[in-house]
Parts: sequence; structure tokens; C-alpha cells
Amino acid sequence: MSEKHNPADGIAFVNGAYVPLAEASIPLVDRGFVRSDATYDVVHVWNGRFFRLDDYIERFHDSMRALRMSLPFSREQIAEILTECVRRSGLRDAYVQMTCTRGIPARGSRDPRQCENRFYAFAQPFVWIANEEQRRDGLKMVISSVQRIAPEAVDTRVKNFHWLDLTMGIFEAYDNDATVPVLVDGKGHITEGPGFNIFVVQRGELATPDRGVFEGMTRRTVLEFAGELGIACAPRPVTIEELREADEVFLTSTAGGVLPVTVIDGRIYGNGKPGPVTQRLSELYWARHNEGWKSKVIDYGAQAA
Ligand SMILES: Cc1ncc(COP(=O)(O)O)c(C=O)c1O
Repeated sequence: MSEKHNPADGIAFVNGAYVPLAEASIPLVDRGFVRSDATYDVVHVWNGRFFRLDDYIERFHDSMRALRMSLPFSREQIAEILTECVRRSGLRDAYVQMTCTRGIPARGSRDPRQCENRFYAFAQPFVWIANEEQRRDGLKMVISSVQRIAPEAVDTRVKNFHWLDLTMGIFEAYDNDATVPVLVDGKGHITEGPGFNIFVVQRGELATPDRGVFEGMTRRTVLEFAGELGIACAPRPVTIEELREADEVFLTSTAGGVLPVTVIDGRIYGNGKPGPVTQRLSELYWARHNEGWKSKVIDYGAQAA
């Protein structure tokens, strides 16, 4: 480990070796970089425990299969590499990414079948979509004029790097005194935003878009909680109108859990405070983390802080 890097800034796994995240690099000609020909997944560590690690790795495999990629690592080996990144970083709360790229084509070839797929991973300090104040008071959102890439073009259920629509949506949000956009589908429905799914609450019932979205792990967790709590919840098309008229709106993401939205296009929801259903689900999300629900303890060994 180089002296000039603090392991707690992040550790990566590249070309079979663990290196400081700041020194990790990929070849410029990897199609993952020049063609967005890649898939990835992000799992988090909270209080020294991975949350739903096996489920995230399973989803990563589903994405690879859909893109006709494969790696010479078993699920257990991937889990071990991710764990080793976290262990070496010493981080108790971490954002842990696994990436599979198409790799480097043979000289003069455009045939993706000839590429050897590559695996990259890293652990870095936990990333939040919302800062402390936004988590307490809610986020400001805009209904973006940008359409989310159509699922007929790129399967949004496969976690991908096609983020230009989401990124332009972020600019639109900042231009309009907000921090997050929700993208639309061009047919009157909402889809998702940069790094999150969206839920609306109306008369105590939940709904979340069922199409043209990435099926987030936090979304799945909330759907499970709703089942447990007896809250009706349907993945189904959600119109822009429904969003405007909702009693409560919240986001779900690995990067922060259940996050309230209290302003949309300048309209204040619920007196500008997170609503009761949002709060209940958010509290349950973190309570489950503290109980160790669906989580895996990391053995930090001798370097435990
Ligand atoms: C486009 C998109 N939608 C939704 C999500 C939320 O998924 P998860 O809850 O698994 O973090 C993400 C996560 O990065 C995402 O990139």
C-alpha cells in the first residue's frame, strides 16, 4: 500500500490486485469506457455489515447474463473480493461497487464476442444522495422534461452507465432551485431519477413505476416492508398527475435508504415535512440495519479500528 494514500479513502480491486482507489485505473480502450459497454452494481456496508450482499451479487449476475457477459469468478469469490476491499479500507460504512466491462477488443475487431470481460471493484466511504438537512426536511425535486431512456432501447433493469439522460436531468433540477429530477417516459408517466426509484403515497397506499426503471434493491426492500406492514403497494404505471396529487413522495436508493421529497416543481407537500408513511418506512429501514436483518458481518481482523 502506497504511503501517500489513506486506505479509508477507498480500496479497489483491479487486475487481480488491491490498490488505493485513487491509483486504480482501467485501460482507455476497454469498451466499458468508450462504449458504456458495462454493467455494475452497488451494495452498501453499514456498521461493519454488508446489507443483502447475496441479493446484490445475484442481481449483478442477472445483469451480466442479460448483456452476455461472464467472469471467471464464482458468487462466493466476488463476495470475498468485495469483503477484502472493505476489510483493507477499514471502513465501517461504505459504498461498494462491482463492475463488469466488455473488455478490450482484439486489434481491428468490433466483435464483442472476442472480448475478455473484466472485473473491477472498489470500496469507498458511504455516499448519500441527500445531505443531513435534506434527509430531515425532504428533497426538492423537478419533474424533468428529459425522458428516461426507453426500456425497448436499453433494458433499464440492467444496471448500466447510460446516464446522460439522468445527468441532464440533474442540471435541470439545479437550474430550477431543486436537487433531484424525476424523468418521464414521454407517455405521461414518471420513471426514476439519478440513482433512485420513486414512490408515491395516496390515501395510505403506495405505488411505484413498474416499467422503464431499474428495479432497485431498496425498492425491493420497501415492497417487502409494505407487505409486512399491511400497506397496499403496487408496482404499476404512475402518471405525472398522480405524482402532483400525491400525499407523500419518497425516493429509495442504496445511497441513503428511504428519502423524503417535500417540494416538487415548487409545490410544497405535507407542510414541507416528511409524511408519516415515509417516516415509518425510513425508520424501519434503519432499524432493520441495526438488527442485522439480511446482513453479513465483516471480519476486519487485526486492523479493526
Ligand atoms: C437508475 C437507478 N435507479 C434506481 C436505483 C436504485 O437502486 P438501489 O435501491 O438498488 O440502489 C439506482 C441505483 O443506483 C439507479 O442507478
